[in-house]
Amino acid sequence: MKGLILAGGKGTRLRPLTVFTPKPVVPVINKPFLLYQIEVLRRVRITDITLSLSYQPDKIEGVLNEAGDLGAKVHFITEPNPMGTGGAYRFAAADPRETTIVFNGDILTNCDLKKMIGFHKANKAEATIALTPVEDPSRYGLVASGPSGAVLEFLEKPKPEELQRVAANTINAGIYILEPSILDLIPEGENRSFEYNVFPDILARKMPFFAYVIDKEYWRDIGTPESYLSAHMDFLNGTLTGFDIDRDARSDVATAATVDRLSVLGEGCVIKPSARVLNSVLGPGVHVEEKAVVEDSVVWSHSRISNFAEVRDAVIARSCYIGRNAVVRPGTVLGDKASIPDYSKA
Ligand code: GTP
Repeated sequence: MKGLILAGGKGTRLRPLTVFTPKPVVPVINKPFLLYQIEVLRRVRITDITLSLSYQPDKIEGVLNEAGDLGAKVHFITEPNPMGTGGAYRFAAADPRETTIVFNGDILTNCDLKKMIGFHKANKAEATIALTPVEDPSRYGLVASGPSGAVLEFLEKPKPEELQRVAANTINAGIYILEPSILDLIPEGENRSFEYNVFPDILARKMPFFAYVIDKEYWRDIGTPESYLSAHMDFLNGTLTGFDIDRDARSDVATAATVDRLSVLGEGCVIKPSARVLNSVLGPGVHVEEKAVVEDSVVWSHSRISNFAEVRDAVIARSCYIGRNAVVRPGTVLGDKASIPDYSKA
């Protein structure tokens, strides 16, 4: 069985973070995001993994090449134009045709794929889609399944009356197991979406198509700034477990500074006296000057938070400058090299 990670999207909802850093490699607890997905695949001994790229492919390849031993054979394949999720799967297919686990490149999960693979095999499915329950499915692609797990219906961004009729709250979790027969439904070289074209086609042809529900294990899509920040909080507060967090990076923390035990500092951070870093993740080389506060936030590498500045519930990208006494308000997301002048409120 092979792995395929769809990592070619533009990540527009995660802008400005994705202007210079494609979504698949945004740092999550100071590690390129894709490493978490590669680890989940490796746990079930899937070590032949293709990354399907389109947007800023060289950056993704560069970051992964620098990440050291990935414990897997990772191939990169770049589309000449974005081909959509289904088109990308077809484009990446190689001989010999094999069963493939496909991941959307923005899903953070610690789910045990062994169970999903067992479910797929037990049902003799041609396609299995992972679903996850959510409170409000109206923003997502709702998928209804029957008591045996057979997929019944797809509803993208359902209206209230449709939600009532279907009485389901499970959405597409962005993980699929597909047999090679699915490739034959997708014309070569054409743009196709799994959600809008391929899955409805599988249903129409009455091929064995099953839904595997991830309900007890952690699942989150990191595709928006709110969700990206929440993923960090989930790591820090222990909602998400099962991945190693590197807490051993060498930093220079003044004795009179406070860094709480939840926070994670990257290599070479400098935390000056009376500064406070609470429940936050700082990338390598971040400076927090005297009496500044960083709380419930993520700060990417080489940013500087000046004296008396306050940053709360915010995401600050690479090499930003937060001036003295500046206040970065909850919900703020700053792109690389943003500069907030002294005494400003952002
Ligand atoms: P938004 O622009 O914020 O919606 O993000 P996105 O571009 O990543 O789109 P979306 O979240 O719908 O994509 C789901 C997954 O499919 C992501 O992991 C994308 O990287 C990937 N993806 C979307 N379109 C393509 C494509 O044309 N080619 C490839 N290879 N991957 C794609």
